[in-house]
Amino acid sequence: MTDRNIIELKNITVSFDGDTVLDDLNLSIRDGEFVTFLGASGCGKTTTLRVIAGFITPDNGDVFFDGKRINDLPPHKRNVNTIFQRYALFPHLNIYDNVAFGLKVAKVPKDEIERRVDEMLELVNMKAMKYRKVQTLSGGQQQRVAIARALVNNPRVLLLDEPLAALDYKLRKDMQNELRRIQQTTGITFIFVTHDQEEALSMSDTVVVMNEGKIQQIGSPTDIYNEPKNAFVADFIGESNIIDGVMLEDYKVKLDGREFVCLDKGFRKNEPVDVVIRPEDVDIVPAEKGELTGEVTSNTFKGDYYEMIVDVCGFKWMVQATDETKVGAKIGLIIEPDAIHVMKKSKYSGKFGDYSTFSDEMDQMEEEEEEAELESEATENE
Ligand SMILES: Nc1ncnc2c1ncn2[C@@H]1O[C@H](COP(=O)(O)OP(=O)(O)OP(=O)(O)O)[C@@H](O)[C@H]1O
Ligand SMILES: [Mg+2]
Repeated sequence: MTDRNIIELKNITVSFDGDTVLDDLNLSIRDGEFVTFLGASGCGKTTTLRVIAGFITPDNGDVFFDGKRINDLPPHKRNVNTIFQRYALFPHLNIYDNVAFGLKVAKVPKDEIERRVDEMLELVNMKAMKYRKVQTLSGGQQQRVAIARALVNNPRVLLLDEPLAALDYKLRKDMQNELRRIQQTTGITFIFVTHDQEEALSMSDTVVVMNEGKIQQIGSPTDIYNEPKNAFVADFIGESNIIDGVMLEDYKVKLDGREFVCLDKGFRKNEPVDVVIRPEDVDIVPAEKGELTGEVTSNTFKGDYYEMIVDVCGFKWMVQATDETKVGAKIGLIIEPDAIHVMKKSKYSGKFGDYSTFSDEMDQMEEEEEEAELESEATENE
Protein backbone atom coordinates (compact mmCIF):
# COMPACT_ATOMS: atom_id res chain seq x y z
CA MET A 1 0.00 0.00 0.00
CA THR A 2 1.30 3.46 -0.87
CA ASP A 3 0.61 6.79 0.82
CA ARG A 4 -1.06 8.13 -2.30
CA ASN A 5 -4.83 8.39 -2.42
CA ILE A 6 -6.34 6.64 -5.41
CA ILE A 7 -9.98 7.44 -4.60
CA GLU A 8 -11.32 10.40 -2.68
CA LEU A 9 -14.95 11.08 -1.92
CA LYS A 10 -15.65 14.61 -0.76
CA ASN A 11 -19.00 15.63 0.73
CA ILE A 12 -20.91 13.06 -1.31
CA THR A 13 -24.67 13.29 -0.94
CA VAL A 14 -27.14 11.08 -2.81
CA SER A 15 -30.90 11.02 -2.42
CA PHE A 16 -33.63 8.98 -4.05
CA ASP A 17 -37.17 10.31 -4.08
CA GLY A 18 -36.37 12.84 -1.38
CA ASP A 19 -34.73 10.28 0.92
CA THR A 20 -31.10 10.96 1.74
CA VAL A 21 -29.24 7.72 1.14
CA LEU A 22 -25.68 9.02 1.42
CA ASP A 23 -25.23 11.95 3.75
CA ASP A 24 -22.08 14.04 3.30
CA LEU A 25 -19.68 11.13 2.88
CA ASN A 26 -15.96 11.85 3.12
CA LEU A 27 -13.44 9.12 2.49
CA SER A 28 -9.93 8.66 1.16
CA ILE A 29 -8.70 5.32 -0.11
CA ARG A 30 -5.02 4.70 -0.66
CA ASP A 31 -3.49 3.03 -3.68
CA GLY A 32 -3.15 -0.70 -2.96
CA GLU A 33 -5.38 -0.66 0.09
CA PHE A 34 -7.93 -3.34 0.99
CA VAL A 35 -10.91 -1.33 2.22
CA THR A 36 -14.18 -2.82 3.40
CA PHE A 37 -17.55 -1.07 3.70
CA LEU A 38 -19.39 -2.68 6.56
CA GLY A 39 -22.97 -2.00 7.52
CA ALA A 40 -26.48 -3.38 7.75
CA SER A 41 -28.77 -3.80 4.77
CA GLY A 42 -29.84 -0.48 3.29
CA CYS A 43 -27.11 1.66 4.86
CA GLY A 44 -25.77 2.77 1.48
CA LYS A 45 -22.86 0.43 0.72
CA THR A 46 -23.86 -0.44 -2.85
CA THR A 47 -24.79 3.16 -3.54
CA THR A 48 -21.28 4.25 -2.51
CA LEU A 49 -19.73 1.68 -4.86
CA ARG A 50 -21.96 2.89 -7.68
CA VAL A 51 -20.85 6.47 -7.08
CA ILE A 52 -17.22 5.33 -7.36
CA ALA A 53 -17.95 3.27 -10.48
CA GLY A 54 -19.84 6.16 -12.07
CA PHE A 55 -23.30 4.59 -12.30
CA ILE A 56 -24.73 7.21 -9.96
CA THR A 57 -24.02 10.93 -10.16
CA PRO A 58 -24.10 12.38 -6.65
CA ASP A 59 -26.44 15.30 -5.93
CA ASN A 60 -23.58 16.99 -4.21
CA GLY A 61 -19.86 16.45 -3.70
CA ASP A 62 -16.90 15.30 -5.76
CA VAL A 63 -15.23 12.04 -6.68
CA PHE A 64 -11.49 12.07 -7.29
CA PHE A 65 -9.44 9.34 -8.96
CA ASP A 66 -5.68 9.68 -8.65
CA GLY A 67 -6.14 13.34 -7.75
CA LYS A 68 -8.35 14.14 -10.75
CA ARG A 69 -12.03 15.03 -10.38
CA ILE A 70 -14.00 12.42 -12.28
CA ASN A 71 -17.63 13.38 -11.59
CA ASP A 72 -18.33 13.64 -15.31
CA LEU A 73 -16.31 10.64 -16.46
CA PRO A 74 -18.58 7.79 -17.65
CA PRO A 75 -18.20 4.34 -16.04
CA HIS A 76 -16.38 2.67 -18.94
CA LYS A 77 -13.68 5.34 -18.87
CA ARG A 78 -12.97 4.85 -15.17
CA ASN A 79 -10.13 2.45 -14.37
CA VAL A 80 -12.44 0.50 -12.10
CA ASN A 81 -14.08 -2.93 -12.36
CA THR A 82 -16.96 -4.34 -10.35
CA ILE A 83 -17.77 -7.86 -9.19
CA PHE A 84 -21.44 -8.07 -8.30
CA GLN A 85 -22.97 -10.38 -5.79
CA ARG A 86 -24.39 -12.56 -8.56
CA TYR A 87 -21.32 -12.77 -10.74
CA ALA A 88 -23.04 -12.96 -14.11
CA LEU A 89 -20.74 -15.23 -16.08
CA PHE A 90 -21.70 -16.09 -19.65
CA PRO A 91 -23.24 -19.54 -19.22
CA HIS A 92 -22.65 -20.69 -22.81
CA LEU A 93 -18.94 -19.89 -22.75
CA ASN A 94 -16.15 -21.87 -21.16
CA ILE A 95 -13.86 -20.47 -18.47
CA TYR A 96 -11.23 -19.26 -20.89
CA ASP A 97 -13.69 -17.39 -23.10
CA ASN A 98 -15.40 -15.82 -20.11
CA VAL A 99 -12.14 -14.35 -18.91
CA ALA A 100 -11.00 -13.40 -22.43
CA PHE A 101 -14.27 -11.69 -23.34
CA GLY A 102 -13.38 -8.10 -22.45
CA LEU A 103 -9.96 -8.33 -24.06
CA LYS A 104 -11.47 -9.66 -27.31
CA VAL A 105 -13.95 -6.79 -27.36
CA ALA A 106 -11.05 -4.40 -26.86
CA LYS A 107 -9.30 -6.06 -29.83
CA VAL A 108 -6.21 -7.02 -27.86
CA PRO A 109 -3.86 -9.20 -30.00
CA LYS A 110 -4.57 -12.93 -29.70
CA ASP A 111 -1.25 -14.00 -28.20
CA GLU A 112 -1.47 -11.27 -25.58
CA ILE A 113 -5.01 -12.38 -24.68
CA GLU A 114 -3.77 -15.91 -24.23
CA ARG A 115 -0.91 -14.83 -22.02
CA ARG A 116 -3.04 -12.58 -19.82
CA VAL A 117 -5.91 -15.03 -19.43
CA ASP A 118 -3.52 -17.83 -18.50
CA GLU A 119 -1.83 -15.60 -15.98
CA MET A 120 -5.17 -14.72 -14.36
CA LEU A 121 -6.39 -18.33 -14.29
CA GLU A 122 -3.11 -19.28 -12.66
CA LEU A 123 -3.65 -16.58 -10.04
CA VAL A 124 -7.09 -17.90 -9.11
CA ASN A 125 -6.03 -21.57 -9.38
CA MET A 126 -8.36 -22.39 -12.26
CA LYS A 127 -5.87 -22.97 -15.08
CA ALA A 128 -6.29 -26.74 -15.10
CA MET A 129 -10.00 -26.39 -15.93
CA LYS A 130 -9.79 -23.64 -18.48
CA TYR A 131 -11.99 -25.31 -21.14
CA ARG A 132 -14.77 -26.35 -18.75
CA LYS A 133 -18.23 -24.86 -19.26
CA VAL A 134 -18.99 -22.47 -16.42
CA GLN A 135 -22.36 -24.15 -15.72
CA THR A 136 -20.48 -27.21 -14.50
CA LEU A 137 -18.57 -25.25 -11.85
CA SER A 138 -19.25 -24.98 -8.13
CA GLY A 139 -20.13 -21.61 -6.60
CA GLY A 140 -16.58 -21.04 -5.40
CA GLN A 141 -15.10 -21.96 -8.78
CA GLN A 142 -17.48 -19.59 -10.55
CA GLN A 143 -16.46 -16.92 -8.11
CA ARG A 144 -12.80 -17.43 -9.02
CA VAL A 145 -13.60 -17.10 -12.71
CA ALA A 146 -15.48 -13.88 -11.98
CA ILE A 147 -12.43 -12.55 -10.14
CA ALA A 148 -10.11 -13.51 -13.01
CA ARG A 149 -12.46 -11.84 -15.48
CA ALA A 150 -12.56 -8.64 -13.45
CA LEU A 151 -8.78 -8.53 -13.00
CA VAL A 152 -7.71 -9.37 -16.55
CA ASN A 153 -8.15 -5.77 -17.78
CA ASN A 154 -5.73 -4.59 -15.09
CA PRO A 155 -8.08 -2.21 -13.26
CA ARG A 156 -6.48 0.09 -10.72
CA VAL A 157 -9.46 -0.46 -8.43
CA LEU A 158 -11.70 -3.49 -7.99
CA LEU A 159 -15.13 -3.06 -6.41
CA LEU A 160 -16.54 -6.22 -4.83
CA ASP A 161 -20.18 -6.06 -3.75
CA GLU A 162 -20.82 -8.89 -1.27
CA PRO A 163 -19.12 -11.37 -3.60
CA LEU A 164 -19.08 -14.16 -1.03
CA ALA A 165 -22.63 -13.87 0.30
CA ALA A 166 -23.92 -16.84 -1.71
CA LEU A 167 -21.22 -19.25 -0.54
CA ASP A 168 -21.43 -21.63 2.40
CA TYR A 169 -19.38 -21.01 5.52
CA LYS A 170 -16.33 -23.16 4.74
CA LEU A 171 -16.00 -22.02 1.15
CA ARG A 172 -16.50 -18.47 2.23
CA LYS A 173 -13.55 -18.73 4.64
CA ASP A 174 -11.37 -20.19 1.87
CA MET A 175 -12.37 -17.45 -0.56
CA GLN A 176 -11.65 -14.78 2.04
CA ASN A 177 -8.06 -16.01 2.19
CA GLU A 178 -7.88 -16.31 -1.58
CA LEU A 179 -9.11 -12.76 -2.10
CA ARG A 180 -6.66 -11.40 0.41
CA ARG A 181 -3.82 -13.29 -1.29
CA ILE A 182 -4.88 -12.08 -4.75
CA GLN A 183 -5.11 -8.51 -3.50
CA GLN A 184 -1.63 -8.69 -2.01
CA THR A 185 -0.13 -10.37 -5.10
CA THR A 186 -1.60 -7.89 -7.57
CA GLY A 187 -1.40 -4.76 -5.39
CA ILE A 188 -4.74 -3.64 -6.87
CA THR A 189 -6.92 -1.50 -4.58
CA PHE A 190 -9.89 -3.57 -3.38
CA ILE A 191 -13.09 -1.97 -2.15
CA PHE A 192 -15.08 -4.77 -0.64
CA VAL A 193 -18.62 -4.70 0.70
CA THR A 194 -20.04 -6.96 3.38
CA HIS A 195 -22.53 -6.93 6.22
CA ASP A 196 -20.50 -9.62 8.00
CA GLN A 197 -18.28 -8.04 10.64
CA GLU A 198 -16.02 -11.05 11.03
CA GLU A 199 -15.33 -11.03 7.31
CA ALA A 200 -14.59 -7.31 7.40
CA LEU A 201 -12.20 -7.57 10.35
CA SER A 202 -10.28 -10.56 9.03
CA MET A 203 -9.69 -9.33 5.48
CA SER A 204 -9.16 -5.60 5.49
CA ASP A 205 -6.46 -3.00 5.97
CA THR A 206 -9.21 -0.50 6.69
CA VAL A 207 -12.84 -0.91 7.67
CA VAL A 208 -15.46 1.77 7.02
CA VAL A 209 -18.47 1.27 9.29
CA MET A 210 -21.64 2.78 7.83
CA ASN A 211 -25.13 3.36 9.15
CA GLU A 212 -28.05 5.23 7.62
CA GLY A 213 -25.96 6.75 4.86
CA LYS A 214 -23.30 8.07 7.21
CA ILE A 215 -19.80 6.89 8.00
CA GLN A 216 -19.64 6.02 11.69
CA GLN A 217 -15.97 5.15 11.87
CA ILE A 218 -12.96 4.55 9.62
CA GLY A 219 -10.07 2.56 11.03
CA SER A 220 -7.96 -0.56 11.06
CA PRO A 221 -9.75 -3.72 12.21
CA THR A 222 -8.06 -3.52 15.62
CA ASP A 223 -8.95 0.16 16.03
CA ILE A 224 -12.56 -0.49 15.17
CA TYR A 225 -12.77 -3.39 17.60
CA ASN A 226 -10.73 -1.95 20.46
CA GLU A 227 -11.62 1.71 20.12
CA PRO A 228 -15.18 1.93 18.81
CA LYS A 229 -16.14 5.55 18.35
CA ASN A 230 -19.73 5.31 19.50
CA ALA A 231 -22.35 2.91 20.81
CA PHE A 232 -23.45 2.00 17.29
CA VAL A 233 -20.00 0.77 16.27
CA ALA A 234 -19.45 -0.98 19.60
CA ASP A 235 -22.73 -2.81 19.23
CA PHE A 236 -22.31 -3.64 15.54
CA ILE A 237 -18.78 -5.01 15.84
CA GLY A 238 -18.57 -8.02 18.08
CA GLU A 239 -20.42 -8.40 21.35
CA SER A 240 -20.32 -5.58 23.85
CA ASN A 241 -21.76 -4.55 27.15
CA ILE A 242 -22.54 -0.86 26.85
CA ILE A 243 -23.05 0.77 30.21
CA ASP A 244 -23.89 4.33 31.27
CA GLY A 245 -20.99 5.86 33.11
CA VAL A 246 -19.63 9.12 34.43
CA MET A 247 -16.06 10.19 33.78
CA LEU A 248 -15.03 11.48 37.22
CA GLU A 249 -11.62 12.66 36.08
CA ASP A 250 -8.85 11.45 33.77
CA TYR A 251 -8.36 7.68 34.19
CA LYS A 252 -11.32 7.32 36.54
CA VAL A 253 -14.83 6.29 35.50
CA LYS A 254 -17.88 5.47 37.60
CA LEU A 255 -20.31 2.78 36.57
CA ASP A 256 -22.85 0.77 38.49
CA GLY A 257 -22.14 3.05 41.46
CA ARG A 258 -18.49 2.05 41.62
CA GLU A 259 -15.26 3.73 40.59
CA PHE A 260 -13.01 2.01 38.09
CA VAL A 261 -9.54 2.87 36.89
CA CYS A 262 -9.36 3.14 33.10
CA LEU A 263 -6.92 4.26 30.40
CA ASP A 264 -9.13 7.01 28.99
CA LYS A 265 -8.69 10.72 29.44
CA GLY A 266 -9.62 14.08 27.97
CA PHE A 267 -13.26 14.15 29.04
CA ARG A 268 -14.93 16.92 31.03
CA LYS A 269 -15.15 16.44 34.77
CA ASN A 270 -18.25 14.35 35.53
CA GLU A 271 -19.07 13.99 31.81
CA PRO A 272 -21.72 11.32 31.19
CA VAL A 273 -20.24 8.68 28.87
CA ASP A 274 -20.92 5.28 27.32
CA VAL A 275 -18.61 2.56 28.55
CA VAL A 276 -17.92 -0.53 26.45
CA ILE A 277 -16.71 -3.74 28.02
CA ARG A 278 -16.25 -6.78 25.81
CA PRO A 279 -17.57 -10.11 27.15
CA GLU A 280 -14.15 -11.75 26.85
CA ASP A 281 -12.52 -9.01 28.95
CA VAL A 282 -14.54 -9.62 32.11
CA ASP A 283 -12.81 -11.82 34.70
CA ILE A 284 -14.89 -14.12 36.87
CA VAL A 285 -13.98 -14.55 40.54
CA PRO A 286 -15.79 -15.80 43.66
CA ALA A 287 -18.66 -13.43 44.56
CA GLU A 288 -16.94 -11.91 47.62
CA LYS A 289 -13.86 -10.97 45.57
CA GLY A 290 -15.70 -9.24 42.74
CA GLU A 291 -15.81 -5.51 42.01
CA LEU A 292 -19.34 -6.25 40.83
CA THR A 293 -21.48 -9.22 41.75
CA GLY A 294 -24.23 -10.90 39.81
CA GLU A 295 -26.17 -14.04 39.13
CA VAL A 296 -25.71 -16.25 36.09
CA THR A 297 -29.05 -16.40 34.26
CA SER A 298 -28.03 -18.37 31.20
CA ASN A 299 -25.09 -20.32 29.97
CA THR A 300 -24.43 -21.47 26.41
CA PHE A 301 -21.56 -23.71 25.34
CA LYS A 302 -19.98 -22.23 22.21
CA GLY A 303 -17.30 -24.81 21.47
CA ASP A 304 -14.19 -23.15 22.84
CA TYR A 305 -15.87 -21.00 25.49
CA TYR A 306 -19.05 -20.53 27.51
CA GLU A 307 -21.25 -17.53 26.92
CA MET A 308 -23.10 -16.42 30.01
CA ILE A 309 -25.65 -13.79 30.77
CA VAL A 310 -25.04 -12.33 34.21
CA ASP A 311 -27.59 -10.17 36.00
CA VAL A 312 -25.82 -7.37 37.87
CA CYS A 313 -28.46 -5.30 39.70
CA GLY A 314 -30.88 -5.72 36.82
CA PHE A 315 -28.37 -5.01 34.03
CA LYS A 316 -27.70 -8.13 31.98
CA TRP A 317 -24.02 -8.52 31.09
CA MET A 318 -22.67 -10.90 28.52
CA VAL A 319 -19.56 -12.63 29.82
CA GLN A 320 -17.42 -15.23 28.06
CA ALA A 321 -15.26 -17.69 29.95
CA THR A 322 -13.47 -20.96 29.33
CA ASP A 323 -14.75 -22.53 32.55
CA GLU A 324 -18.38 -23.44 33.08
CA THR A 325 -20.47 -21.66 35.71
CA LYS A 326 -23.91 -23.09 36.49
CA VAL A 327 -27.07 -21.07 35.98
CA GLY A 328 -28.16 -19.57 39.31
CA ALA A 329 -24.60 -19.22 40.66
CA LYS A 330 -23.60 -15.94 42.32
CA ILE A 331 -20.31 -14.73 40.89
CA GLY A 332 -17.97 -11.77 41.14
CA LEU A 333 -16.77 -9.77 38.16
CA ILE A 334 -13.43 -7.99 37.88
CA ILE A 335 -12.80 -5.41 35.18
CA GLU A 336 -9.20 -4.44 34.54
CA PRO A 337 -8.38 -0.89 33.36
CA ASP A 338 -7.54 -2.05 29.82
CA ALA A 339 -10.90 -3.82 29.51
CA ILE A 340 -12.72 -0.52 29.87
CA HIS A 341 -13.28 1.67 26.85
CA VAL A 342 -14.94 5.04 27.34
CA MET A 343 -16.88 6.68 24.49
CA LYS A 344 -18.56 10.05 24.06
CA LYS A 345 -22.32 10.02 24.26
CA SER A 346 -23.92 10.04 20.80
CA LYS A 347 -27.36 9.78 19.27
CA TYR A 348 -26.97 6.02 19.65
CA SER A 349 -26.56 6.20 23.43
CA GLY A 350 -29.18 4.18 25.24
CA LYS A 351 -30.25 2.41 22.05
CA PHE A 352 -28.00 -0.52 22.68
CA GLY A 353 -28.10 -1.51 26.28
CA ASP A 354 -27.73 -4.86 27.91
CA TYR A 355 -28.49 -8.41 26.93
CA SER A 356 -31.90 -8.72 28.56
CA THR A 357 -33.66 -9.52 25.29
CA PHE A 358 -30.85 -11.62 24.00
CA SER A 359 -31.40 -15.03 22.53
CA ASP A 360 -29.77 -17.03 19.76
CA GLU A 361 -33.15 -17.51 18.12
CA MET A 362 -33.45 -13.80 17.51
CA ASP A 363 -30.05 -13.69 15.86
CA GLN A 364 -31.02 -16.53 13.64
CA MET A 365 -34.28 -14.92 12.61
CA GLU A 366 -32.46 -11.75 11.70
CA GLU A 367 -29.96 -13.68 9.60
CA GLU A 368 -32.70 -15.48 7.74
CA GLU A 369 -34.47 -12.22 7.04
CA GLU A 370 -31.28 -10.70 5.74
CA GLU A 371 -30.60 -13.68 3.49
CA ALA A 372 -34.09 -13.53 2.05
CA GLU A 373 -33.59 -9.86 1.32
CA LEU A 374 -30.27 -10.48 -0.42
CA GLU A 375 -31.85 -13.22 -2.50
CA SER A 376 -34.69 -11.01 -3.70
CA GLU A 377 -32.28 -8.17 -4.42
CA ALA A 378 -30.04 -10.48 -6.43
CA THR A 379 -33.03 -11.66 -8.46
CA GLU A 380 -33.96 -8.05 -9.17
CA ASN A 381 -30.45 -7.31 -10.38
CA GLU A 382 -30.48 -10.12 -12.89
N1 LIG B 1 -32.37 3.36 -7.51
C1 LIG B 1 -32.90 3.56 -6.32
N2 LIG B 1 -34.09 4.19 -6.16
C2 LIG B 1 -34.62 4.41 -4.93
N3 LIG B 1 -34.04 4.02 -3.78
C3 LIG B 1 -32.88 3.38 -3.86
C4 LIG B 1 -32.23 3.11 -5.13
N4 LIG B 1 -31.07 2.47 -4.88
C5 LIG B 1 -31.00 2.33 -3.53
N5 LIG B 1 -32.06 2.88 -2.92
C6 LIG B 1 -32.28 2.94 -1.46
O1 LIG B 1 -31.13 3.49 -0.88
C7 LIG B 1 -30.82 2.86 0.35
C8 LIG B 1 -29.39 2.32 0.33
O2 LIG B 1 -29.34 1.28 -0.64
P1 LIG B 1 -28.02 0.45 -0.90
O3 LIG B 1 -28.31 -0.48 -2.02
O4 LIG B 1 -26.86 1.37 -1.09
O5 LIG B 1 -27.87 -0.34 0.47
P2 LIG B 1 -26.80 -1.45 0.89
O6 LIG B 1 -26.05 -0.92 2.05
O7 LIG B 1 -26.02 -1.87 -0.30
O8 LIG B 1 -27.76 -2.63 1.39
P3 LIG B 1 -27.65 -4.23 1.20
O9 LIG B 1 -26.72 -4.72 2.27
O10 LIG B 1 -29.05 -4.70 1.42
O11 LIG B 1 -27.17 -4.51 -0.19
C9 LIG B 1 -31.88 1.81 0.55
O12 LIG B 1 -32.86 2.30 1.40
C10 LIG B 1 -32.43 1.58 -0.85
O13 LIG B 1 -33.77 1.18 -0.80
MG1 LIG C 1 -25.95 -3.65 -1.40
